Amino acid sequence: MATYVLPDLDYDFGALEPHVSGEIMELHHGKHHKGYVEKANETLEKLDDARGRKDFSRIVGLEKALAFNLSGHVLHSIFWKNLTPDGGDAPSGELARTIARDFGSFEAFKAQLTEVAATIMGSGWAALVWEPIAQRLLTCQVYDHQSNLSQGGVVLMAIDAWEHAYYLQYKNQKAGFFKAVWSLWNWDDVAARFQGARGLNLQVPEAASATPGTR
Ligand SMILES: [Fe+2]
Repeated sequence: MATYVLPDLDYDFGALEPHVSGEIMELHHGKHHKGYVEKANETLEKLDDARGRKDFSRIVGLEKALAFNLSGHVLHSIFWKNLTPDGGDAPSGELARTIARDFGSFEAFKAQLTEVAATIMGSGWAALVWEPIAQRLLTCQVYDHQSNLSQGGVVLMAIDAWEHAYYLQYKNQKAGFFKAVWSLWNWDDVAARFQGARGLNLQVPEAASATPGTR
């Protein structure tokens, strides 16, 4: 049975400076993300145990813990891949054309996703997702790691808006962090994730109009 593991970063902890400090990256990856991985695996073990004992009295709490910790693992894993010391600029090719189609322009998309991040009440994430039924891009304001989702949406890029992502460096000026990440996006990674997500078919063909402009 597969277990979840903490993936190594593709770059050094300090490689994203000055945009994100090495201290933040080391704690964020090695403590926060690691904790979600461990707790996701622990929760799966508890579910196995409950199933074995035919005792589902704690199933609600276990499902809540699994949703929170596994979603934290998934989003952090994507977030690290989304970033690169050589990032920034803007996407190209099919991803750029689809962003322009679904948001009007790259600048409009950038403004929207940044605002999604900046207006989260409490802890959460701003995400660009591919919605496979209408075959379109959407933004998503995620509460914690797992709430307020549009079901079926596949995360292509995510901005961690938890305080642990920025507070040591940006303090109460979180807008500075949400601006800085735009210098770090690995658009090749987002484009690869986009190509992969487009292959997802939820097999509900009559749930959206295929006619452009009428979805
Ligand atoms: Fe985080």
